[in-house]
Amino acid sequence: MKVLLIGSGGREHALAWGMAQSPKLSKLFIAPGNAGTAQLGENVPISAENLSELAQFARTEKIDLTVVGPEAPIVAGIRDLFERENLKIIAPTQRTSFLEGSKVHAKAFMEKHGIPTARHASFESFERAVTFARTMQPPIVIKADGLAAGKGVAIAQSHAEAEQVLREFMIAKRFGAASQRVVVEEFLAGKEFSLFVASDGVSWKLLGTAQDYKRLLDGDRGPNTGGMGSISPVPWLTEKMLDETVSKIVAPTFEALRNENLSYEGILYFGLIWTERGPCVLEYNVRFGDPETQVLVPRFNFDLLELYLAIAERRLESFETQLKPLSAVCVVLASGGYPEHYEKGFVVEGLEALKGERVLVFHAGTALKDSAVVTSGGRVLNVVGLGASVNEARERAYTAIPKISFQRMHYRRDIAA
Ligand code: AMP
Ligand code: GLY
Repeated sequence: MKVLLIGSGGREHALAWGMAQSPKLSKLFIAPGNAGTAQLGENVPISAENLSELAQFARTEKIDLTVVGPEAPIVAGIRDLFERENLKIIAPTQRTSFLEGSKVHAKAFMEKHGIPTARHASFESFERAVTFARTMQPPIVIKADGLAAGKGVAIAQSHAEAEQVLREFMIAKRFGAASQRVVVEEFLAGKEFSLFVASDGVSWKLLGTAQDYKRLLDGDRGPNTGGMGSISPVPWLTEKMLDETVSKIVAPTFEALRNENLSYEGILYFGLIWTERGPCVLEYNVRFGDPETQVLVPRFNFDLLELYLAIAERRLESFETQLKPLSAVCVVLASGGYPEHYEKGFVVEGLEALKGERVLVFHAGTALKDSAVVTSGGRVLNVVGLGASVNEARERAYTAIPKISFQRMHYRRDIAA
């Protein structure tokens, strides 16, 4: 089979690595990919957001299946476009992508169907949003409605700060049209975790749990990032808690989708928090997580490409989604200065030394320059340790890291600690 994978981060390198092990794969293209995916297939210089060129490429190359990593092309309607052209693709439709594409719409969906989430109100008027926020007890959570590359959530510690954030979002339009509307919601205290589910429109299957580390610095301090590390499975989540999450959140979500006549084909990511009133949804995402995929895919005890085919052919019900009894810990090696300003183009050394070690290194922000691997993004590499226990997995990752170097490399020392 010829497969086209869309995206360029660590998530996509992990997906490429997973699919590359399938005996069914004959050729893998990655658009646009990175220096890591180039080792597993052929990178194609088309941006993940250039939908028409992607479709044209899939047509010309007679691609059998397209797999989408990031949310932007899904929310922009890539599934609908490919389907119109009779091209097989794994992604939910644009109509269903509101689950991630509009926080306002997603919250209304949860409220309507009784899916536990933070109490909230949505606003298009700045004045009304401010008036409402004043009635709340800080901290107050403010979310831009649309896609904001993971930066659209602010937690205000006072009424003054809430007003300032609302002004920034709604008046200064920090995220353009994406922050014209906002959700203002109560702050939930608890422990965060994520759950990944595959769905073919008829049935759904749990794929696994993971937790990411969003803050830049050790001890969960510093600014929010796209993710500085991850772990799977979530060590503190018991079987009983998982069952409760499935019965209170996962099953009702798919039932609600069915009741709304929305069919979901693809991966649904449940961003959750375990509170004193049990599990609550923080957000839905219409795709795999990054860096959660990097700790999930190595635990799959099944063929990832076969999973996608089972989704495409609506036979997920009889597909076994078992996991290996392993823990996985991912540490992100980032560029100094990230998530603010950082330099690119530093040579990455030591990757060769890791061949044969019991760790996986996924590339996140790398490029090839005169056959050398150089940094090209904020999050550069993902070092994944696997082990029978969390400790073993963490040890493997942290033992490997000092062998890798690039100028101004930064990483957290406390992932899975
Ligand atoms: P979201 O994009 O909605 O997942 O929000 C990003 C992050 O903001 C989450 O992972 C949480 O850490 C935090 N967050 C979002 N909503 C809330 C909430 N209602 N209470 C507490 N933290 C939240
Ligand atoms: N790790 C968070 C996300 O993928 O959205």
